Order: sequence, then C-alpha cells, then structure tokens
Amino acid sequence: MARRKKIYEGKAKTLYEGPEPGTLVQYFKDDATAFNAEKHDIIEGKGVLNNILSEFFMLGLGQIGVPTHFLKRLNMREQLVRSCEIIPLEIIVRNYAAGSLSKRLGIDEGTQLPRPIVEYCYKDDGLGDPLVTEEHIAAFGWASQQDMDDILSLALRVNDFMSGVMLAVGIRLVDFKIEIGRVYDGDFQRLVIADEISPDSCRLWDIKTGQKLDKDVFRRDLGSLTDAYTEVARRLGVMPNNPPAPGKPQLVN
Ligand code: TMP
Repeated sequence: MARRKKIYEGKAKTLYEGPEPGTLVQYFKDDATAFNAEKHDIIEGKGVLNNILSEFFMLGLGQIGVPTHFLKRLNMREQLVRSCEIIPLEIIVRNYAAGSLSKRLGIDEGTQLPRPIVEYCYKDDGLGDPLVTEEHIAAFGWASQQDMDDILSLALRVNDFMSGVMLAVGIRLVDFKIEIGRVYDGDFQRLVIADEISPDSCRLWDIKTGQKLDKDVFRRDLGSLTDAYTEVARRLGVMPNNPPAPGKPQLVN
C-alpha cells in the first residue's frame, strides 16, 4: 500500500494529504505538550477525545453559520478538513482572568473580565508565540484590516457559542485559543475556523466546584488529563462510543 504524504507535523496533530485536492486528513496524536514543548508526555486516549470534541464544536459552529475547515470525521483519530492557509496568529478570547493574563496584569485567576478580551499572539514556536498588537499585524502584513474585522467577529461568535454550550453542561468557558485560515473559492477569499477546538486549547472550569477540565490539568500536574477530557465529553454526550452523528450535534443536559 502506498504510504500517504505527510504535509505537516505539529505537537499534537499531523496533517496528511487528503483524498481530493484541497483536502487534508488531520490526525490527532496522544502527545501533550506545555511551555513550548518543554514539558511533554503521551496521554493515552487524548487524541481520540480531542478528535470527537473538536468535531462536535466545529459541527455546532457550522450549524449557526460560522464557517470552519471541518468536513467530516473519518475514524477515531482522523478528520477530513479543507486545506487552508493558516494566518500566523493565535487568537485568544478571555472571559475570566487566568494564565498569562493573570501573570501579566496581576489579576487573580477567576476574576470576571468587564467584557471579553481578544488578544493576538504571533505563531512562532521559536519565539514562544509572543503577544502582538494590531499595529504589528498590519505593519508586517500578517492580516489585512478587513481580515482583522472578520477575525474579531468570528472570535466573538465562537466565544458566544462555546460559552453557551459549556454553560448548558455546568462548565465555565474561561478562555480559549483559535486559529483561522484562508480558503479560496475561485477569486474569492474566505476566512474559516481551522486547527482544533478542544480542551487542549480552552480553559474549562466546573461552575460549581471550580475543578479544571482542560490542559491546565497537565500543565500544572493536577491529576488525570484523560479523566478531565472524558468528563467534558460525557457531559456533552459525545463519548467515543457515542460520537455525534455528522450534521446533528446534540446537547445533553
Ligand atoms: P495563556 O493564558 O497561557 O495565554 O492561554 C490562553 C488560552 O490559550 C488558554 O485557553 C490556553 C490556550 N493556549 C493554547 O491553545 N496554546 C498555547 O500555546 C497557549 C500558550 C495557550
């Protein structure tokens, strides 16, 4: 059998050439990294959980008209996605203070922010993904003003959607990171949500107990990461043996 072509290998995922032009197969690995890969471990089952959770969120976003790169889940670890040109920015939306914002501004973790705050980091592992402003983005041409308007609007729509979905299952969406890609339809360019949306890229706290159900469990050695992600999947009704039917995301109380 012909070996398929690897397009890109990241820390938590690998991209392979897809079956048709303009498509890629996104494979979710079990690798967990933190602090720019200074900390690394293999967490058995993490890839399966993130594949299914990311499918669930991307399908839901599609249903409210937020375009994503997601096409369909292929198996327990792989999904078919549209190939896109990733804008070299990590877009972070924060509802409550935590992590680097708390450190940078001296605000206690868990403090509700006066409104959602959107931050941009330049995607460069060698530099540790530094925080940048719209001035840098415009001056270095990473995104146009029109792109930035669209990115802000997409990020806030994802925030409203994700906050609501999580609230319905007793989880607070503290913050999250998304990546956005460009796809070309003929002469037209559109922006789509790309990469993944999963507990690797969000902060999720149980509303009642404050228990962390995201990658901070790994970053801060707080217990079993698989248990935390399984709890998120269980509450959303998308356990690996009960994955969402394509096109039919289901919310479970
Ligand atoms: P931060 O507080 O460390 O800046 O993280 C903000 C959010 O972004 C949090 O939900 C975790 C997520 N994140 C990533 O997805 N990838 C990263 O490399 C980092 C640093 C954060």
